Amino acid sequence: MINKKLLIEKAFDAQKFCYTPYSNFNVGAALLGASGKIYQGCNIENAAFTPTNCAERTAFFKAISEGEKDFTAIAVVGNKEGVKAGEGDFCAPCAVCRQVMAEFCNLKNFKIIIAKSTDEYLEYTLEELLPLAFTGKNLD
Ligand code: THU
Repeated sequence: MINKKLLIEKAFDAQKFCYTPYSNFNVGAALLGASGKIYQGCNIENAAFTPTNCAERTAFFKAISEGEKDFTAIAVVGNKEGVKAGEGDFCAPCAVCRQVMAEFCNLKNFKIIIAKSTDEYLEYTLEELLPLAFTGKNLD
């Protein structure tokens, strides 16, 4: 069972650490590993723009680099600076982050929870957000 409210709260906690002087768009993510551990991530921007890392990938790279291999779900929250929780739009993972998820997650089972607050969220499988995914299987 996924504790969705806890995962969303952890994403909001991570959002506080984002480094976003260029966009002022603040994203937080909380990734649940099969071990039960939660890995938090925020977006980290850069003056050269392309080195910017999204919150979701920050969480994934932290987890992979700490030995976690299987993943259950990720919660994502994001809004422009100053927008209160529950207001603003849902922040869905960008295409690059979806591709990184496809590298490490089961397309049919991995859950992506996109939240405005702990009460208002959408839930998708990775396959729903990345149909016809290109994965390592294509290279066999
Ligand atoms: N961003 C994320 O962190 N995750 C997403 O899925 C969408 C975009 C960040 C990247 C950049 O720092 C800011 O949001 C604006 O694009």
